[in-house]
Amino acid sequence: MSILTPKALSPSPCLGKPRNPIPNPKFRSFKPHVTQFHCTCERQTERGIEFDTGESFFRHESATGRDLGVLAAALYRQSKGSLRVLDAMCGCGIRSCRYLLEAKADFVLANDANDEYRGIIVGNLKKVERGFGDTRRWVVSHFDANRVLTECYLQRDFFDLIDIDSFGSDSLFLRSAMSALRLNGLLYLTSTDGYSSGGHRPHCSLAAYGAYIRPMPCSNEIGLRMLIGGAVREASLLGYHVTPLFSYYSYHGPVFRVMLQVNRGKEHENRHYGFISYCSQCGNTRSFSWEELGQISCSCSSNKSLVLWMAAQNLKHC
Ligand SMILES: C[S@@+](CC[C@H](N)C(=O)[O-])C[C@H]1O[C@@H](n2cnc3c(N)ncnc32)[C@H](O)[C@@H]1O
Repeated sequence: MSILTPKALSPSPCLGKPRNPIPNPKFRSFKPHVTQFHCTCERQTERGIEFDTGESFFRHESATGRDLGVLAAALYRQSKGSLRVLDAMCGCGIRSCRYLLEAKADFVLANDANDEYRGIIVGNLKKVERGFGDTRRWVVSHFDANRVLTECYLQRDFFDLIDIDSFGSDSLFLRSAMSALRLNGLLYLTSTDGYSSGGHRPHCSLAAYGAYIRPMPCSNEIGLRMLIGGAVREASLLGYHVTPLFSYYSYHGPVFRVMLQVNRGKEHENRHYGFISYCSQCGNTRSFSWEELGQISCSCSSNKSLVLWMAAQNLKHC
C-alpha cells in the first residue's frame, strides 16, 4: 500500500510508513475489503456528492454538523482569499471532500489514525484533482491527531481551519490544535460525552474541561458551554483568546460541536467565564462571577443550589 505523506510534516523516518503508529485498542480492528484504491463499499450521497464509506465510521445524522463546518469555511475563504484545512479525524473523507468541493479549500490534509481507511479516503478525494508540488490540493495521512498537529506546528505549517471530529472528548487535542492554527483561524471542536454534560461524571468533566458539572435541566446547552469553557481555558494558557462563532447540539451521539475563532492576546477580564447555579427546590437558574463565588444561594432561600462552571455566556446558538 502506498502512502501520500504530507509535504509539510517532518521528514522523520516514521512518517511515510503505511502503518498505524499507535496500536490503540480503541480503534476498530476490522479489515475492510480494501485494495490500494478500491474497496467493497457502500455508496452514499450527501448534498449531491457521491462517496463510499466502506466500513469506516460514518453517520448520516452528522450531515448538519458537516454543513455548518463547510459554510464557515466557505465564508472564511471568501473573506481571506485562501483556505487550508486540517481534517484531523476524517473517517471516510467526506468532510475533506466537501471542504475541497464546496468551500473551495486550496489545500486539505485528511488524516485518520486508521490506515485501513486509506483506500476509501483516497477514492473519495480523487473527485478533486490532487495536483503536484505547490498546487497540491490534498494529502492523506494516518497518524494520531496529536502527532499530526504537533508536527505541523513544529514545521510552522499552519492551517486556517482545523476540524476535530472525535469520539468522546477532544480536550486532549486542544493545545496541539491551537498551536497548529493560523491566528484568526477557525477551530471546530467536538464532544460526544453526554454523561459529562448530564452531570453524571463530574470528575471526568473536571479533568477534561475544568468544569464540575452536576445534573440540571439544560444539559444540552451545558455540554456546549463545557466544551467552549475548556477551549477558553486552554487558549488563555497559550496567550490566546477564543470567540465562539456558533454551537450545534445533535441528539445522535449526542454530539456537541462548537466553532471557535482563535486570536492572539489573553482576555484579562473574562466576563463570560464563571458559574451557573441551579436550585433543585424552585428551579431557578442564574450565573455568578468568580467574585460572587461565596455568595451563591437561591432567592427561595432553600439553599440547595448546585454549582457548575459556565463559559461563554454570549454563545450564539444556531
Ligand atoms: C467520528 S469518526 C470521524 C467521522 C468523519 N469525520 C465524518 O465526518 O464522517 C472519528 C474518526 O477518528 C479516528 N480516530 C480516532 N482516534 C484518533 C486519533 N487519536 N487520531 C486520529 N484519528 C483518530 C477514527 O478512526 C474515526 O475514523
